[in-house]
Amino acid sequence: MINFKKYIADSISKVINIEPDELSNYIEIPKDSNMGDYAFPCFRLAKELRKAPPVIANEIKEKIELNKDYIEKVEVAGGYLNFYINNQLLIEEVLKEINNKKEEYGKVNIGNGRNVVIDYSSPNIAKPFHIGHLRTTVIGQALYNIYNFIGYHSVGINHLGDYGTQFGKLIEGYKLWGNEYDIDSNPIEELMKIYVRINELCKEDENVLERCRENFKKLEEGDEYCHELWVKFREVSIKEFNKIYDMLGTKFDSWNGESFYIDKMGEVIEKLEATGKLVESEGAKVIDLEDKGMPPCIICKSNGASIYATRDLAAILYRARTYDFAKAIYVTAYEQNLHFKQIFEVAKLLGIGEEKTNNLIHIPYGMVRLATGKMSTREGTIIKVQDLLNEAIDKVREIIEAKNPSLENKEEIAKKIGIGAVIFNNLSTTIIKDVVFDWNIMLNFNGETGPYIQYIYVRTKSVLEKAGYMPKIEDVDFSILNNKEALNVFKLLYQFSDIVVSTANKNETSILARYLIDLAQSYSSFYDSNKIISEDKKNTDARLLLTYAVGNVLKVGMNLLGIEMPERM
Ligand code: ARG
Repeated sequence: MINFKKYIADSISKVINIEPDELSNYIEIPKDSNMGDYAFPCFRLAKELRKAPPVIANEIKEKIELNKDYIEKVEVAGGYLNFYINNQLLIEEVLKEINNKKEEYGKVNIGNGRNVVIDYSSPNIAKPFHIGHLRTTVIGQALYNIYNFIGYHSVGINHLGDYGTQFGKLIEGYKLWGNEYDIDSNPIEELMKIYVRINELCKEDENVLERCRENFKKLEEGDEYCHELWVKFREVSIKEFNKIYDMLGTKFDSWNGESFYIDKMGEVIEKLEATGKLVESEGAKVIDLEDKGMPPCIICKSNGASIYATRDLAAILYRARTYDFAKAIYVTAYEQNLHFKQIFEVAKLLGIGEEKTNNLIHIPYGMVRLATGKMSTREGTIIKVQDLLNEAIDKVREIIEAKNPSLENKEEIAKKIGIGAVIFNNLSTTIIKDVVFDWNIMLNFNGETGPYIQYIYVRTKSVLEKAGYMPKIEDVDFSILNNKEALNVFKLLYQFSDIVVSTANKNETSILARYLIDLAQSYSSFYDSNKIISEDKKNTDARLLLTYAVGNVLKVGMNLLGIEMPERM
């Protein structure tokens, strides 16, 4: 497909002797298409060339040689050069490309097969999988899919919180009251109860606390009984988490959690010691980060125990070696900002090279806020993600029963829409911003929602089905599609690949999510003002192909976000 932006950059480059890649960064897509399809601002050149921007714009316009088949006209507007592309050609190019590549449309190879390691979800054993974990899970999975699509090889890691002194307490609690709780059928809640109870007892009785510490020590030394219990807690918790992952369609390549790094922290400490920067402070060993404006990063506590940060440093070292990553991404709540800033700084002392330490990326996400009173919860504050997903499905099922009771495969469709709505709601909000959880907004079929996009997708399907045939691209008269609504659609379709790439470059899923809303809306306007199936075969053919193209991109885009598309609803 012709890359118009690149063509313009190349053409300007011939006139003003600046590298096309640099020029390409300056080129903008004007919000108002009356200002052209691409605009080149001359302001940045003014200083270097010692001329006013409009003068530069005029000079480039005079000298530039453009193929009329690509660019229909160039105009100077203030300090801008506005380029108007040949719409006819755009339409033809897009339709041919989509028709050819189908679900592969928009794929590029920027990654060259290099690994991108993505650490997401990562809940804690024997603790609830809360609504914040839902957010990292869906953001991480979307990034996973997107990086694969642009030629990287994604490695998904569930860095389970399966280690720490709390296990000494849980073991003690289980020893005392294990038979009173039904851990197998309701693991997380029951383990939580034990944990709360043992904590109470620890506060009252110093001896119990001591026994908990002993248990943890024994666990570290490989005591059989303690280890067995730890394995059990881990297994039942994972089984529970898997129920959620099954519903969401979440996949991981590795389940190496914190415990995986127990025997790998020694090397981290050695390496840090060798730099001479690991210093004693109140009995603990720390790396001072004052010159970076941060509190010290504790590596070993005063009792010799390692902590979360040390395990993360061991993980960085392990991931650098095992995956030779181009990027290592972490998706967590913004509360962990300082933690990641600290360990990324300390990681520079591990000797893995600047390429890697410069590509450690933390993606913090905002809180999930509930629109109070609108969500039924069983226990008040802690909302079980599973209940929430089931509630989404139930609500969609009700809507289907009311609007289209004879629909086949209702259950499967309700699941795709309900879960899709929750995922989309999480991804379409800028990641760092808080997400509001409100069923009325999320499930609005006319809003900026997952269900809306699915609804428009299903419309494209039913139009094609009604027509009963797929027109041949050779037969299509592209000039028929040269109207305002159709052009809006084509301009968006043309951008798809760039959108996916910038979603990855900025690690910001809302870019793709918002784009899909725009695309769905643009098709809806087209549909409202153009009768698709008519007596006129030429017209029908062209409009059907546009319809197919939109459906295809909506589906590919939503699948990248980790959302399944129903074929009917
Ligand atoms: N277990 C942590 C939590 O639930 C998240 C872990 C994130 N990953 C990491 N490598 N630190 O908050």
